[in-house]
Amino acid sequence: MKILHIDSSILGDHSTTRQLTAAITARLRAAAPATQVVYRDLAAEPLPQFTAAPGAEDAAALATALEQVLAADVIVIGAPLYNFSIPTQLKSWLDALAVPGKTFAYGANGPEGLLGAKRVIVASARGGIYTPGTPMASLDHQENYLKSFFGFVGVTQFDIVRAEGLKVSEEVKTQAMAAAFGQIAALQAA
Ligand SMILES: Cc1cc2nc3c(=O)[nH]c(=O)nc-3n(C[C@H](O)[C@H](O)[C@H](O)COP(=O)(O)O)c2cc1C
Repeated sequence: MKILHIDSSILGDHSTTRQLTAAITARLRAAAPATQVVYRDLAAEPLPQFTAAPGAEDAAALATALEQVLAADVIVIGAPLYNFSIPTQLKSWLDALAVPGKTFAYGANGPEGLLGAKRVIVASARGGIYTPGTPMASLDHQENYLKSFFGFVGVTQFDIVRAEGLKVSEEVKTQAMAAAFGQIAALQAA
């Protein structure tokens, strides 16, 4: 199994999503020790901003990002909620993946996703609470966006590990982290 492990938090060692992606990757590796892991830190080494005509160096960086995804069986993504959306570094990575003929194609019946064989696990962390049915739910342009994006490119095995309400109180944070680690322990590992 090949895992692509992506982090995008700007908070370094203080990041919640980094803790969660590390735990998810460790769990998958424990179940399948021969697993290979490719790691990308999008905050430390951001991809170039999207342009219509990237230079050779930028085009190569974007192509490498796409190749890493195409080569992976499982993609573990750390996705904090920043200003109701995902970090710009993570958006630049998604921009590298939305490539017609590689991740999706337009056929007679409209768009068709080409990444169906892959599994995506998103580690989501948020200061407030945005679970469906709560007052702030319509401001979730992070989990919903990622789910839509990976659905568009054909991914059906899509899991979210969520820690939310992290800025509400210490008590809520403790409960949220315990719930997220419980979700990781319950993830189907192979
Ligand atoms: C720049 C920035 C913007 C944020 N915007 C939001 C927000 O819009 N809504 C929210 O609930 N929390 C927001 N937060 C809180 C984060 O979602 C929370 O701290 C989470 O743990 C971030 O994940 P990380 O620790 O892996 O970076 C923001 C935090 C930062 C640093």
